[in-house]
This record gives sequence, structure tokens and C-alpha cells, in this order.
Amino acid sequence: MSTDNLLKPGSIKSDLKLSKQIIQSDVSTFQENFNCSHFKFSHNLAGHPLFEIPRLVDLANTILSQGRTDKIQSYTSRVPIQQKWNHRPGINEITEAIAHIEESDSWVMLEDVQVDPEYAALLNQIITELEDLIGKPLRQEMTWLGAYIFIASPNSITPYHIDSELNFLFQIQGEKDMSLFNQNDRSILSEEEIEKFYIGDLNVANYREENQSKASVYHLEPGKGVHHPILAPHWAKNGNNVSVALSVLFYLRPYDLKARVYQVNSYLRKLGFKPTPPGKSALRDRIKIFALGLLCDRRPKSKFAILRSGILRVKSIERRLNQFIKKISIFSNG
Ligand SMILES: [Fe+2]
Repeated sequence: MSTDNLLKPGSIKSDLKLSKQIIQSDVSTFQENFNCSHFKFSHNLAGHPLFEIPRLVDLANTILSQGRTDKIQSYTSRVPIQQKWNHRPGINEITEAIAHIEESDSWVMLEDVQVDPEYAALLNQIITELEDLIGKPLRQEMTWLGAYIFIASPNSITPYHIDSELNFLFQIQGEKDMSLFNQNDRSILSEEEIEKFYIGDLNVANYREENQSKASVYHLEPGKGVHHPILAPHWAKNGNNVSVALSVLFYLRPYDLKARVYQVNSYLRKLGFKPTPPGKSALRDRIKIFALGLLCDRRPKSKFAILRSGILRVKSIERRLNQFIKKISIFSNG
């Protein structure tokens, strides 16, 4: 099931029974806060058969049987909040870890679960509801869409990090406390950190204890959810029970372009300039977006390529240029 199919309602074939309305919230909360501020909402996915552990084991096996081993990640639980995001054990024990999640002391993430048509139907309905709540045809601006499921042993910690996606997180089983920070507060997340993040340093965001008082801490229980704007720093601590949560994640075209401004700014900063942050000068933003756009894939084939194809070409040009300068200097000194 490709993202393209998900962006065309009516293309998904599934007999899955879903309630008429999954998300319960007032329209004004969604319209006023969408991708600006984090906010809590209610839903009725708690107890749904799609999120029972045996069904999730089947789902993991489906993903693995399709050879998509990169779509399942597992992390060690009970780690410090400061632990970086790139610790990746092997996948052999993953289905075992899910089946015995209560005592396996694990944290498992199943990515792009819409490869299974039942989860695709669920994702499709959620997007339709979000479009109604937000009052915008989101699919027109989406460049990537995916549903991830997080399964965690009691008391697991999700370390502090930032994401490039918009996120609607649905808590389905168990409880957690989610600390979410304001992505626009530069005492929490600096321009330089965002620039480095967009050129590939995914672990750039550093947790600082003194900023914890600036977080909004959402207590999530089954039937509750929270919206994360793009780049909103967050970390989570699960309660004394198994946690199952669904994340509906997507990219929107205007924010892909904003990422390009950050990427160009990162290079300008390296050259000794003090770059203008995005949003301060429409003309400068347009020039940066255009310039980097010349190096971006016209039709990116992956989530990674949507944000990073242009900057990868810049890095490759930079590498070759450095090699050329090195050779010239050896020749001139020889
Ligand atoms: Fe996250």
C-alpha cells in the first residue's frame, strides 16, 4: 500500500469495521492550534482489536515477511532521558519482545503499518476526520503519510528528541506522561540546532533539566491523544503498564520548503554569515528555496529524499570541491 494510494480516498479495500467518528474534539481546538501548539484530544480506539497484542505480533510478522526489516525498530527500555535516538538492536527477537511485552523490558516501533489494508483503512479514516476538524484538504499538501505503532513495556522511557513530521498520537493501551515543549522557544530549541537537524544530525536536540519546567506534561490514558507540531521537542515516561500507541505522521509541502531554508542557513552559518531565520523575509526564503530546489529530486521516491535529496547533493559537491582544492594545493606546492 503506497502513500499515493492513501492520498486518494476510496482506493483502500478493507472490510474493517470502524466507528463513524474516531476523534472526539471540538473543531476550534484543532483549527486554532494545528501545527502551532500541542493539544490534547479524545478518541475511541481504546480496546480496538487492531491493537491487541496477538494482532500486533501478526502485523510485525507481515512487515518482516515482506522483507521490510527497516520498518521495525526496537530500543532498550529504562534508559536515561538524555539517551540518543540511534541505538538499534537486531530484529530477531522483535516478535518475541512484542508477544511478551509485559516482561520483555522493550520498546518496539512498527513503521508504515498501512502496508496491512486494515491499518490503511484506519489511517484513511483518521485523515478524513482531521481534514474535517481542521477545515483544510490536508491530502493536497501532503508529501508523505504514515502510521506508526509504539509498543512498550511498563515504565519505558522515550528519550528527548525532535521530529520532522506532524504527529497525532493516540494512546490506546496503558498510560504515559508526555512532556512537550514549544518548538518556537529558542531557549529550548535554537536555530542552529534546527539547521543541524535538517542537514542530518537527528540527535542534535539536547535535554536540559532546567527547561523541564517549560514543558506541558500531558497525562495520556487509553482514549486520549496529543498533537505534536513539527519540531516540538518531547519525551515520554510510560506508567506501570504495557503501553500501545498509534502515531499518525505526515509531511506538508510548505514545511518541506521551510526545511530547505534551514538547510541553506546551516551552510551560510558555516561560511561565517548570520543567516535570517525562515519567516522573517519572504524574498530571502524564496531565493533559498529556489536555489536548493535546483538540487532536489523532482519526484522524491522516499521519505528521506523529500527532505534531504538536495542537501545530500550539496554535501557531495562540497566533498568533491574539497578534494579538488587539496589536489591543486599539492600540485602548487610540489
Ligand atoms: Fe517523537
